[in-house]
Amino acid sequence: MLGSADSDLPRVYRACTEGEHMKADLETLASLAKRRGFAFPSAEIYGGFASTYDYGPLGVEMKRNIRDSWWRRMVQSRDDVVGIEAAIITNPAVWRASGHVAGFTDPLIDCLECQSRVRADHVENNTCPVCKTVGRFTEERQFNLLFRTFVGPVQEDASTAYLRPETAQGMFVNFENVQTTMRRRLPFGIAQIGKSFRNEITPGQFIFRTREFEQMEMEFFCEPASSLEWHTYWKQERLAWYQTLGFNPEHLRLRDHAKEELAHYSQATSDVEFQFPWGWGELEGIAHRGDFDLRAHATGSGHGLSYFDQEKNEHIVPHVIEPAVGVDRLMFALLCEAYDEETDAEGEKRVLLRLAPSIAPVTVAVLPLSRNERLLPTAREVYGALRPHFRTQYDDAQSIGRRYRRQDEIGTPLCVTVDFETIDDHEVTIRERDSMAQIRVPVGGLVAALNERIDALTPKG
Ligand code: GAP
Repeated sequence: MLGSADSDLPRVYRACTEGEHMKADLETLASLAKRRGFAFPSAEIYGGFASTYDYGPLGVEMKRNIRDSWWRRMVQSRDDVVGIEAAIITNPAVWRASGHVAGFTDPLIDCLECQSRVRADHVENNTCPVCKTVGRFTEERQFNLLFRTFVGPVQEDASTAYLRPETAQGMFVNFENVQTTMRRRLPFGIAQIGKSFRNEITPGQFIFRTREFEQMEMEFFCEPASSLEWHTYWKQERLAWYQTLGFNPEHLRLRDHAKEELAHYSQATSDVEFQFPWGWGELEGIAHRGDFDLRAHATGSGHGLSYFDQEKNEHIVPHVIEPAVGVDRLMFALLCEAYDEETDAEGEKRVLLRLAPSIAPVTVAVLPLSRNERLLPTAREVYGALRPHFRTQYDDAQSIGRRYRRQDEIGTPLCVTVDFETIDDHEVTIRERDSMAQIRVPVGGLVAALNERIDALTPKG
């Protein structure tokens, strides 16, 4: 289990030790994200748009790193998983067969006092979460979360289509295509990363729950008899991956869904939960979907979906284990986990993101000591030499101290400082984000020295 591996982590990744976890609240993180170019309220010059965000230059780099890490682990480094990219708007019959048109609903009630519309299952003690009035609600109604649109020039029921609410169904309807073209035998998985859309009644909490979001999902098809074992395997494997991203194992836990909580397709689900600023919340769902989806699409399409087991000489309908996580929600969890504040001997506050090097938007910043013209050619030369190897940024504005702080706040693990001595001795200073330790190394060996430090700072999983 993850918990026991904590002592293997480098000290810097145990930033939030017991009792001091979560140094930032939601507002602090959203404000940092905006100030430093991670995420902005969408269309802000028009007053924004409810719970919708646009990602800035650092946000897109971080999201890309998250996706790359997931894809590498779930697809490229395995022999038993392949990837696809399915359409966002597809045949609406898919969503009828999957149960989403009829059953993808949240229970909704209105407060008669303040007219707020809230999810019935989010109401505690019969009290309106907005105005705190007790017991003044309308009857419960079911509200469908699918976004509708129209395909073609006529806006009528016959042309209604849906924006996909999950990427998963793209994998089920392509089960046969992938299995036959890739000549796959059980067990094997199909993975996908892409946008999903849900007309959430109560979005909010920054990028934790939005109406447009990105999912990373994998459907693992296996024999029914081994499905419980695979469910256990994927729970452990997914937790191990989170460790490589720098999560403290104590801030993650697995929670099994109670029977009444299970989604319509699920036989058993465990959530990977993270301690968000407001408490434990779902980061990832790991569902045992049984044969629900393949059977549903076989019935819906009239096209049998099964697997021929050559050894047993029989057709079986595989069972499915599905790990599914949101890119945006994970990015938010990583920002929560990485945020730290320190006060130095002079009482000056330092804000830093202790992001793992693989996730940080910038891995190496090149900072000339000043804008003095004598330094410029050497600093540019060093920058040019590092760019092919790392995600680099060049910054020469303001004092060196302020630039270090700026890089700390965006989570850059290493800075390289070019000073006047560099011109003569061809050495530069590497400064580490977490310890603020500085060492001098020859420019000739800089790439190797930086890689060595990145390796030391990388959590192992
Ligand atoms: N195919 C199964 C599925 O979609 P889910 O639990 O509804 O399961 C999986 O979603 C993951 O997608 C969640 O654990 C969460 O990380 C992310 N997610 C779901 N709804 C989201 C939303 N409205 N905003 C951001 N992320 C969301």
